[in-house]
Amino acid sequence: MKGKRILLGITGGIAAYKIAFLIRILKKKGAEVKCIMTPASCDFISPLTLATLSENPVSIDFWNRQNGEWVNHVDLGMWPDVFVIAPCTASTLAKMANGFCDNLLTATYLSAKSPVVIAPAMDLDMYAHFSTQKNLDLLAANGNRIIPAEEGELASGLIGQGRMAEPENIAAYLEQLFEKQTDFAGKKVLLTAGPTYEKIDPVRFIGNHSSGKMGYRIAESFLQRGASVVLISGPTQEKLTHTRLELISVESAEEMLKAVQQHWPASDIGIFAAAVADYRPKQVAGQKIKKKEEELTITLVKNPDILSWAGQNKTDQQLLVGFALETNDAIAHAQDKLKRKNLDLIVVNTLEDEGAGFKNDTNRIQLLDKHNKITSFELKSKALVAEDLVNYLKHV
Ligand code: C5P
Repeated sequence: MKGKRILLGITGGIAAYKIAFLIRILKKKGAEVKCIMTPASCDFISPLTLATLSENPVSIDFWNRQNGEWVNHVDLGMWPDVFVIAPCTASTLAKMANGFCDNLLTATYLSAKSPVVIAPAMDLDMYAHFSTQKNLDLLAANGNRIIPAEEGELASGLIGQGRMAEPENIAAYLEQLFEKQTDFAGKKVLLTAGPTYEKIDPVRFIGNHSSGKMGYRIAESFLQRGASVVLISGPTQEKLTHTRLELISVESAEEMLKAVQQHWPASDIGIFAAAVADYRPKQVAGQKIKKKEEELTITLVKNPDILSWAGQNKTDQQLLVGFALETNDAIAHAQDKLKRKNLDLIVVNTLEDEGAGFKNDTNRIQLLDKHNKITSFELKSKALVAEDLVNYLKHV
C-alpha cells in the first residue's frame, strides 16, 4: 500500500462518515489519498474533516469557489492507482452505469484510467431493486470491481443487505488488489491476437472476423499485473500503449510466425489468441485481378501452425496456452488440440454460446488443462475473462 495513490469518491449516504476511518487506515499504511465529494455527501461529512485526514484539498465542484480555478477532472482521473467510490449511492451507480456526468465525481469516473472499486451503500430495498442490481451487473461486466454491501443493521432501522463494506474490509480488498498488480512482475509474456490477412492481390485478401479484443484484454491484464508483454497483432481496430508493451503489427501468418520465432525463446508464458488463417493463396497476383471469367479459382496452400511451432520448441519452464473456438464437440476437439500442439492449457469457447466468440465484448470460456481438468466460467466481459485466465495461470 506504501506510496499508492488512492482517489476516494464519496457520495451522499450516511455511510460517508465511515470514510474518515478508511482514510486513517489508508494513510497509516502509507498510501497517498485524495477525495472527491459529491455536493450531497457534504451533508453527511464535512470536506474539512476529509481534507485534514487526507492531507490534501478535497474537490467538490468543477471549479474552485475560492479562486475561480477550473478543477481538471481529466487530471484527477489520471492521478490514482485506484479510484474507490465509497459509499456509492443508488443514484451514483445509475449515473456511472449510464454515462451521466453531472458532477465532478461522475465526470472523473468517465475519465479514470485506473481500476475502479465500488462499495455500494443504501437501504435494503434500494439495494435489492432490479434497477440497482442491473446497474451493478453492468458495471461489473465492464471491468469495475464491486465490493458487495454487507448484511446488518441499516440507518433506517431495518436489517438486511445494504451496509457499506466496513473500512477495514475495503482496505483489505485494496491491499489484495495492489498485491495482484505486481504478481507477474519480471515475467515475459508473448501474445498473438487478431486475424491474419492473406494476400490475394495488391488490394484483396483472405481474412476472418476476429476483432483482437480478447487478446488485447489479456495483454492489458498482464500489464496491470507487472508483466512485460510482446503482443504480435494482426490487423485490428484495438489500440494499446504501455511502457512494458512491445507491439508488433503483422498481416500474414508467415509474418506472425517470424515474430513468434524471434520472441518465444525468451518468453515465460505464451498465449496464442490469434485467429490465424489456415490457408493462404499459393500465388499472390502482382496486379489487381481483373473481372473477366465467370469463375475464378484460387489455389490455397496450408499456412504454418504457429502454436504448434511454439509447442515443439517449448522448454519445461515455459507455459503455453492456446485457444480453441469450436462450433461443435468443443471439449473433445480442444482435448485433441491440446495434445497435438503440446500445450499446458487451452481456452475453449464456442460459437454455440450467445455472446461468446469473435466480435462480442463478452465471452464465455472453459479452461482445459493437460490432466483433462475443466474449469468453467460465466459469460462476462472480455476484460474479466482475461482476468480469470491470468488468475488461473498464477496457480499453474
Ligand atoms: O487448430 P486451430 O486453428 O483450431 O487452433 C487454434 C489455436 O492455434 C489458437 O490458439 C490459434 O492462435 C493457434 N493457431 C496458430 N497458427 C495457426 C492456426 C492456429 O497459432 N496456423
